This record gives sequence, structure tokens and C-alpha cells, in this order.
Amino acid sequence: MDPITAATHPDPYPYYASLRAKGGLTFDQQVQSWIASSAEAVCAVLRHADCHVRPPQEPVPKAIAGRPAGQVFGHLMRMNEGERQRCPRSAIAPGLQDIDRQQVRAWVRAGFIEDGAAGLHHAQFIGPVAVVAALLGFSPADSRLLSALTRDFVACLSPLSDAAQLHAAHRATGQLQVLFRKRIEANDSASAWLTGICQGFAGVAPNDLVANLIGLLAQTHEATAGLIGNALLALIRDPALLHRIREEPTLIGPLQAEVQRFDPPVQNTRRFVVARCDILGVSLEPGEAIVVLLASANRDPALNPQPDLLLTDRLNRRSFSFGAGRHECPGQTLAMDIAAASLATILERAPQPDRLDWRYRPSVNGRIPVFSDRP
Ligand code: HEM
Repeated sequence: MDPITAATHPDPYPYYASLRAKGGLTFDQQVQSWIASSAEAVCAVLRHADCHVRPPQEPVPKAIAGRPAGQVFGHLMRMNEGERQRCPRSAIAPGLQDIDRQQVRAWVRAGFIEDGAAGLHHAQFIGPVAVVAALLGFSPADSRLLSALTRDFVACLSPLSDAAQLHAAHRATGQLQVLFRKRIEANDSASAWLTGICQGFAGVAPNDLVANLIGLLAQTHEATAGLIGNALLALIRDPALLHRIREEPTLIGPLQAEVQRFDPPVQNTRRFVVARCDILGVSLEPGEAIVVLLASANRDPALNPQPDLLLTDRLNRRSFSFGAGRHECPGQTLAMDIAAASLATILERAPQPDRLDWRYRPSVNGRIPVFSDRP
């Protein structure tokens, strides 16, 4: 195992513990990167001004630079530092705190249109993005279309994508841009959140606005699918817990809160050193890369007592699953609400969890189980 293949290993947690035992910030020859594995190191790297989200010499991955998906990528707050991150974030993040939870739950339920494993797949991979699109004022039909297009777009974010997937990502980018431009031009009152975002982007190039709206859907897609799937897996692995949750559905929220820490959908993220710096006594040079093991930090006993136990009633839970510092996920409350509502609906309408097969999607950082009916 290495820090990248760990993301989709059946049980990477003993390996993460072995990395922490060697020191929180160590150099890995195999992946030619620094590895931040302890909570202290993960926190220090994520908060360090000289650890950036992209290498300065390659702000957009070569595979998509100069093409439609690359143009969107280049504007995303997630992929930028300085004003190009702060400005879109200040327009988008505040409205995320005012989202109506009841409305989110109602949309999740309404979007669950098929029973069985197909419905489960829909609940993981179509429903969450469709809810975010609906929050931005799209109709139910357009929300589902946007969700399917987002699935194609996110292929541009993975180094594992092949030429056909990248081609589909470029095509989807054009369609997403058209749909968002139309939505913005409608200038109606369908979404107070979108109205606030547009006001926040006044005077900024329209491409910046459209790219960051696409970014919201892209950020939702795989991570929320993973969060829902990992909670379902926790129940498949522990029939007594499944029984308890069925008896007491109010425990779904606490379960989801613990699973995001215990088995996070985004296992790692990257940073790139842009100026010589010293982190926890280790000297880092410009041009060096750091794999930041969020999932390992969550299991650090210095962060949470008894970290390897899944405890729905854990007190003072601490987690890096949504990042930390200036790029910390602004969508975490929404993600948790969507995931809890989705899991509740899955438990009502999907097949018995013990009748499902599953495998992790190939990924360098996402831990996203995909389910199918057992033959
Ligand atoms: C379970 C679901 C989710 C997880 C685990 C997750 C996790 C993360 C993480 C770890 C980061 C920081 C990455 C880094 O610093 O390298 C991040 C950033 C971000 N997330 Fe989420 N996310 C989720 C859902 C969402 C949702 C639903 C939205 C919005 C609708 C969203 C919007 C964003 C945005 C815009 C950023 C970039 C923030 C910035 O760079 O300033 N995320 N997310």
C-alpha cells in the first residue's frame, strides 16, 4: 500500500497508523512527496500560507489546459489562492449557511424516483447534485440534467481519466455553461442564494461566476456520494447497528456525523510548497508536494480518544474530513443534511443492505463505494 492506493483499500487505517508512528510529516520515496499523517501536521500544512493548492508552474493540469474543462478549472476557488479564492468564496459561502433544511429533505425524498439498487445509485450519484442545482433555482428536470453533466465534468479532476472521459468532460462543460448562463440571465427570484451570489460577483468577469457555480456541483458530486455510501457500508458491516438505526431513525444524523470522521469520502488532498518553509521542524523546499492524509488525522489519538471506534454518541468529535484553514469546505452543513436525508430514504426504499455487493470506485483520493444487487 502507498498513501494514494490507501484511499480505496478495504482497510487503510492500520497503514495510516504506521505512517503516524514514523512521524507526522515524512518523505515517501515511492510517491516522491511529503506525507502529512498526524493531526498536527495536517493542520499545520492546511493552514500554512506557503502551501498552495496547485503547483505554480501548472495551475491547470496539462491534460485539460486550454480546453473548456481546463478554463473552468482555472477559475475555481478550490484551485486558486489569494483574491481568486477569497473573492468567489466571499460571494458563495455566506448563503450556504441560510439553506432551509426542511426544503433539502423534501427535495431528497422527491428525487428518489426508483426503488432497489438503481434507486440507491441515483440517491448517491444523481440526487445530491440535483438538490444543490434546485437550491440554485433550477427546475427538477434541469437539476437532474445538471447532475448527469456534472458526473461527466468531474472526470477532468481525476488523473485516472482516459481520453474518452476527458472528451465527455469538455462537452459537458459547454452544456453546463449554457444552462448556468440562462439561469443567471433569467434574473428571477427562484433562489435567494443565487441572487446573493450574483450580487457578490458584480463587476467580476461572468466566466468566473459560471465556473464557480459549476464548481459547487462538482464539489458535491463524489464527496457526498462517498459520505452516503460509507455510512451504508458501516451498517452493512455491523448488523446490530443497522438494527438499532432501523428502530431509531433519529440516530441517522449522529451516525452520519461519526462516519464522516471514521471513514471519510475524501481521504487525502494535496498541497504544493511555493517558498522555503519550516513545518514542525521539517524544512520544505519550493516545488515539493505534500499528500495531506485527512483520513489519517481523524484517527490520530491526539485528536479523538479511541479513534478506531465508531461511536455515534462521540463527545467533542474533531475531524479534518472537510479540510481546514482558508480552503475548508463551506458546504459541510449542506452535505451532512443531504447525506442524512438520503440515507434515511435509502433505508426505507433500497434493498436490504445485506443483499448488496459493493466495490470502491477507482480514485486517488476518494473513498466512494458503488453498490449493485447481489446475483
Ligand atoms: C461529504 C461531502 C463533502 C466533503 C467530504 C467535502 C470535502 C471538502 C474538502 C476536504 C475541501 C477542502 C479541500 C482542500 O483544502 O484541499 C472542500 C472544499 C470545498 N467544498 Fe466541499 N465537501 C463536500 C461537499 C460539498 C458541498 C455539498 C459543497 C457545496 C455545495 C462543497 C463546496 C466546496 C467548495 C466550494 C470548496 C472549495 C473551498 C475553497 O477552496 O475555499 N463541498 N470540500
